[in-house]
Amino acid sequence: MSKQLYRLVYYSRNRIAKDGNDFRTAIEQILATSRENNSRCDVTGALIFNAGCFGQVLEGRLEDLEATFERIQQDDRHGDVSLLAMEPIEHRHFARWSMALVSALPSDDSALTSIGLQSGFDPSNLNGDELHSVLHRLLLEEEALLAQ
Ligand SMILES: Cc1cc2nc3c(=O)[nH]c(=O)nc-3n(C[C@H](O)[C@H](O)[C@H](O)COP(=O)(O)O)c2cc1C
Repeated sequence: MSKQLYRLVYYSRNRIAKDGNDFRTAIEQILATSRENNSRCDVTGALIFNAGCFGQVLEGRLEDLEATFERIQQDDRHGDVSLLAMEPIEHRHFARWSMALVSALPSDDSALTSIGLQSGFDPSNLNGDELHSVLHRLLLEEEALLAQ
């Protein structure tokens, strides 16, 4: 099996009703499943969301990314899944996270605006590099905040 690492970046439209605790519960379930499955096949990455859409970066071997993305695409908790990037990488940027949740903190709203992930965002403005870089930066900022 090839050891070459790849990065996959996509965005999608949220289809989970955002009322009461249902949205939170659904996100918790997605994260729990993702962390369990991704740990098993050495996939790492990060997920960002708001009421309107998800953005996700996945890193790992090609065959593991393809199998994971196949399942993700068939999940009706989101739709219009759009692949932004699938490219070979030298090393992982999310090596410590089987699936990090970015921007769970309310104070991150302004950072979300910078990539148009607030409501009314236009996905055609996003590209894979941009989404990947912002997720990585936000995650490091959150870690620094939590460490204070
Ligand atoms: C936005 C979003 C992101 C997801 N990310 C992952 C992921 O990184 N890894 C994963 O295995 N499943 C992920 N899922 C869940 C899959 O769509 C699917 O439900 C799950 O992989 C099925 O796992 P199971 O066969 O072990 O029940 C995601 C779902 C959504 C809606």
